[in-house]
Amino acid sequence: MITVKALRAIRRADLVFVPVAAPGRPSAAESVIRAHADVEAVPVVFPMTRDAAKRGAALRGQLEELRPRWEEAVSVVLPVIGDSALYATAAYFYDVWKAIDPSMELELIPGVSAHSLSASRAGRFLALGDEVFSVVPGTAGREAVALALKNCDAAALYKPSALGEELRSVVESAGPWGEILRTDRAGLPEERLVEGIAALSCPDEYLSTLLLWRRSR
Ligand SMILES: C[S@@+](CC[C@H](N)C(=O)[O-])C[C@H]1O[C@@H](n2cnc3c(N)ncnc32)[C@H](O)[C@@H]1O
Repeated sequence: MITVKALRAIRRADLVFVPVAAPGRPSAAESVIRAHADVEAVPVVFPMTRDAAKRGAALRGQLEELRPRWEEAVSVVLPVIGDSALYATAAYFYDVWKAIDPSMELELIPGVSAHSLSASRAGRFLALGDEVFSVVPGTAGREAVALALKNCDAAALYKPSALGEELRSVVESAGPWGEILRTDRAGLPEERLVEGIAALSCPDEYLSTLLLWRRSR
């Protein structure tokens, strides 16, 4: 699902950073670019924390360490999964970097988001006509998620694992739903599609997206 424009940017870049959750951990973005481009990828650890100060300090430290690499580069790319503008932790990286080097310029290259990819893997149309389609993050909390779901005809619930065992009751409280589908690791070798009520058991997979429709197939 990597776009031609993104691939060109990666191949032409002077430096390629890849986001990893912890030192030595594999990166989904890196596995995708490795299949298409023979480039050296420099890992940057994106700490999985919502503490902005901790996250900022960790990213700043790495950017300072890597300064000799990026200072001599004209173009640096950071491939991410899905669309570069949707729930992308890369945004925090950009903020920290821009504060260190205000002369840097950002170019966002759009990608295929998890909800588009998931719908296509299952052969489902996401929204039709005047249907309201919402994108909702599970991290927003029980009440905010339920409210957002109540007010739409179809939805993509990102990060559903954040709701834990409450996932089913939250989704059902905003029902009835004509169709429910969860994709785990869509498009990756371990991809799994789960339909119906079974999709509402809490996934132990972070790369998981829940699609909901009022209409039945
Ligand atoms: C930090 S967000 C990144 C979203 C990404 N920028 C996009 O446009 O899809 C991470 C969330 O995206 C969703 N996601 C990303 N890749 C996925 C995949 N391969 N399969 C299912 N869901 C995925 C999951 O909901 C995951 O919790």
